[in-house]
Amino acid sequence: MALLFAQRLQVPVVMTDLDQARVDKGLAYAHAEIDKMAAKGRVNGDKANRLKGLITGSVTKEAFADADFVIEAVFEDMKVKQQVFAEVEQVVREDCVLATNTSSLSVTEMASGLKHPERVVGFHFFNPVAVMPLLEIVRAEQTDDPTLATAFVVGKSLKKSSVLVKDAPAFVVNRLLTRFLGEVTTAYDEGTPFEVADRALDPLGLPMSPFTLLQLVGPAVAYHVSETMHEAYPDRFYVSANLKKIVEAGKTAIWTYDSGTPEIDPEVAELFEQGDAPLSEEQVRDRALTALAQETQLMLDEGVVAEAQDIDLCMLLGAGWPFHLGGITPYLDRSGVSEKVNGKRFLPAGVASLP
Ligand code: 3HC
Repeated sequence: MALLFAQRLQVPVVMTDLDQARVDKGLAYAHAEIDKMAAKGRVNGDKANRLKGLITGSVTKEAFADADFVIEAVFEDMKVKQQVFAEVEQVVREDCVLATNTSSLSVTEMASGLKHPERVVGFHFFNPVAVMPLLEIVRAEQTDDPTLATAFVVGKSLKKSSVLVKDAPAFVVNRLLTRFLGEVTTAYDEGTPFEVADRALDPLGLPMSPFTLLQLVGPAVAYHVSETMHEAYPDRFYVSANLKKIVEAGKTAIWTYDSGTPEIDPEVAELFEQGDAPLSEEQVRDRALTALAQETQLMLDEGVVAEAQDIDLCMLLGAGWPFHLGGITPYLDRSGVSEKVNGKRFLPAGVASLP
């Protein structure tokens, strides 16, 4: 995120963290990414040095005193995020916007203890931040119009496509990803072989298999999001017992490619426990698609976004779903899943080339 802001807005960016070692690690990562861009010929030596000079680090939040826009991306814990915003509010100017990159927590609750909750807005990026074009902009209950408008202008200047979403648990992309990943991990937990569960969604043409995506997001983030979702909607969202185990053991990788084909990392395999009720590939796919159709309809009923096409756009730009299939709702309509699950289609005939 620091690199994106420096590169697109050409403004100084300061990153803070708990201690100097963490600050240095963050800076080293940003500098290494700039070196990679230089090696690819995307920036020349001068530009690379200028970009590196724009990004600095600090262990105190005093560094935000003259900031226009502060974005928090700390641990997914409401209390920690509230505390960080309270500290930042002590330091920043009256007109500074406070943005949160939370994956699933309530932006309204996060802002509730502040003197000026109206300047807090959700600003949710997708991994890898440099690559995925989507930004979910979350209007919390108190967010005022100038803050929301600023968020959209900043999003556009960052060359992202912004979609306005309601302050509902996990917004759009993470809600759908968590729902269908929950079905896949549960199928595994119940006894479905890893490779069967992992390739069950291949016909959808997604850029990554479910377990690869879990690894990209990071097991800890995926676990915390699934906890938030389970709390909000206990009937539909599961917390995988196996995911919990590997997070508690501090594992960041789920599978390895060491043998030439993807397989569960042997250390992780030792921690995992499976039941004895395996599903076939088709059954896993059916469960996942049914879940997606149900959740998409519920999101539209709740007004999380204005219309079905917003959900399609979010999944295309935030989760890399294949453009040529038009997004999730045309897929569910074409495959007949929408009618089976919800008794109706999402889109009328003719839209997104639907017959
Ligand atoms: N960091 C920076 N750049 C990266 C990168 C990374 N981790 N991974 C890939 N890239 C860059 C590559 O350098 C390459 O750039 P170049 O064109 O300048 O050389 C470009 O991305 C394309 O890379 P590849 O050709 O290697 O990769 P693919 O075509 O296989 O695409 C992908 C990679 C874009 C990651 C694709 O697999 C994808 O879209 N996956 C789905 C990702 C997804 O679902 N993200 C959302 C997760 S949910 C989330 O993040 C929310 C949070 O709250 C949890």
